Parts: sequence; C-alpha cells; structure tokens
Amino acid sequence: MAITITMGIQKGGSGKSTTTGILSHLLGEDGYRVLAIDMDSQGNLSELLTNKPANNFVEHSILEAMQYNDPKKYIVNINDHLDLLAGNNFLATFPRWIYTSRRYTGEKIPYSANPSLILNRTLDVVANEYDFIVIDTPPSLSEQTTNALAASDYVVVMYECSNWCYSAIPNFMDSITAAQDVSSKNVEAIGILRTMNDIRRNDAKAFNNLIAEDYPSLVFDTIITRKAPIGRLSLYGFEDNKELNKAIYQYKTFYKELINRVRNK
Ligand SMILES: Nc1ncnc2c1ncn2[C@@H]1O[C@H](COP(=O)(O)OP(=O)(O)OP(=O)(O)O)[C@@H](O)[C@H]1O
Ligand SMILES: [Mg+2]
Repeated sequence: MAITITMGIQKGGSGKSTTTGILSHLLGEDGYRVLAIDMDSQGNLSELLTNKPANNFVEHSILEAMQYNDPKKYIVNINDHLDLLAGNNFLATFPRWIYTSRRYTGEKIPYSANPSLILNRTLDVVANEYDFIVIDTPPSLSEQTTNALAASDYVVVMYECSNWCYSAIPNFMDSITAAQDVSSKNVEAIGILRTMNDIRRNDAKAFNNLIAEDYPSLVFDTIITRKAPIGRLSLYGFEDNKELNKAIYQYKTFYKELINRVRNK
C-alpha cells in the first residue's frame, strides 16, 4: 500500500511544486515506484516532470481520473520508476463538478459522498501499485487542497521564510486537523521545510529561527537556499540537465530526513 505525502501551504510561491518534483525524482532514483499527482490547475508539476505544456493533458488528467474514478486510464509514464497524473487549467472546474454533478463539458456524473474524499477514493484504486504517492497542491484552501490532505498519510508543510508564509502556517495546521476528522488516513504533518532561503538576509534568518522555536520537533534540519539551478529546473527538467546535481544536492539531505521520519513512524 503506497505511502501518500502531500506538499502544501496556503501561500503562493513557496516551493511546493519544485519540492514535489524533486522528491518524486529522488524517490524514483532510490528504486521506489512513485506516482506524482498534480492537484494544482497551474500544472507546474506536470510541466516540470514532462517538459511539456500542461495543456497537452487536457481531458487526460487527474480531473478525469477523479470524475470517472479510473486513474489507470489517465496515467502519464515519466520513466521506469515514476508515473504522473497531470493537472491543467480545467482542474479549476473540479468544485463546480462536485456541487452540480456536471463536468465542464456538460456531461452529468453525479457524486454524492463526502466532497473531500474524492481523490482518496481514486487513489485507492492504484495504491497497491506504488510505494509512494506524492501530491502537489495549489496555494489556497480549495477543494483540490482539502482532497489532497484527506488522501494523505503525511504532509510536508512548506515554509518560505517570510512574514506572510509565517502567518499562513497556523491556518494550514488547522486544515490538516480538519482533514484528519474526515479521512480514514492519519493525515499527519511530517515536518516543516524551510525553503527559498536567502541566508544572507537577517529577516530570513529571523523567520528561520522563529518557526524552529514555534515547532521545534517539526522543522527539518535541512534548509533549502535560493539557488539559480533550482529555479532553472523548470527550464531544463530532470533529463539531460547538466546542473541537476547543483539543483538537488540540498534536497538529498531533506530526503534522508524525510525518509527516516517516515520509517520511524
Ligand atoms: N530554492 C529555490 N531557489 C531558486 N528558485 C526556486 C527555489 N525553489 C523554487 N524556485 C522557483 O521559485 C518559483 C516558485 O516555486 P514553486 O513554483 O515551486 O512554488 P509553489 O509553492 O509551487 O508556487 P505556487 O503557489 O504558485 O504553486 C518557481 O519559479 C521556482 O522555479
Ligand atoms: Mg506550485
């Protein structure tokens, strides 16, 4: 049965998609069978993993997988270890479908159970075929996010060291607790990842320390700094990227910490 890990925070531009992409890559490199899920209509994770525009996955995405409850039909194979259920702009019509039973095409597909458990139901179909399922979420508490949380064993809380991200954390922790209440899964915060860090800036240092004081047992020791090769991953991807090692070496220590925590649960 796959272990499901979601990257999230209700704050934009905090490294969620980048971290989900790198984590998928590192798990696959480690020999695990991985399914990556793009629950954000921006489709950034899909573009990062495939090097193709997210529009290529219209009518072949996580939205259809959930609506027809048939994930296998919509899986995109990335490599021997990694599969993807892609996202694109039409994922924004997910709530409309839940509450009207109509797809954006007009087709009627009723769904009457708990609206936060749709992704959970769909992932159950393939959970035995993977070791890990990793989920990228949008920067808001939308139905996509509540579904991702309710389908998760663990959540990595993303923390880009700034005041607005700091103030988003308590709300996000509440969202994790709310997901626990509806889900049969644990839905547990496995850690807080400090990322996009400009370690020369005093305010970043202060926000690093502040979060470590607030959540001493949750913060990962690894701090991901702001680095051009990480930003350029969105251009070069994971195949034939000459600076891949520079982009992911900090993430390797985060990966070790994360796997240790998961193993020790
Ligand atoms: N450590 C880093 N160093 C430099 N650039 C980074 C780093 N992490 C992410 N980026 C870049 O910063 C931008 C935001 O990162 P990313 O898209 O991963 O954040 P996000 O939380 O998924 O954003 P959104 O909330 O819009 O979904 C992207 O252009 C990404 O390439
Ligand atoms: Mg993103």
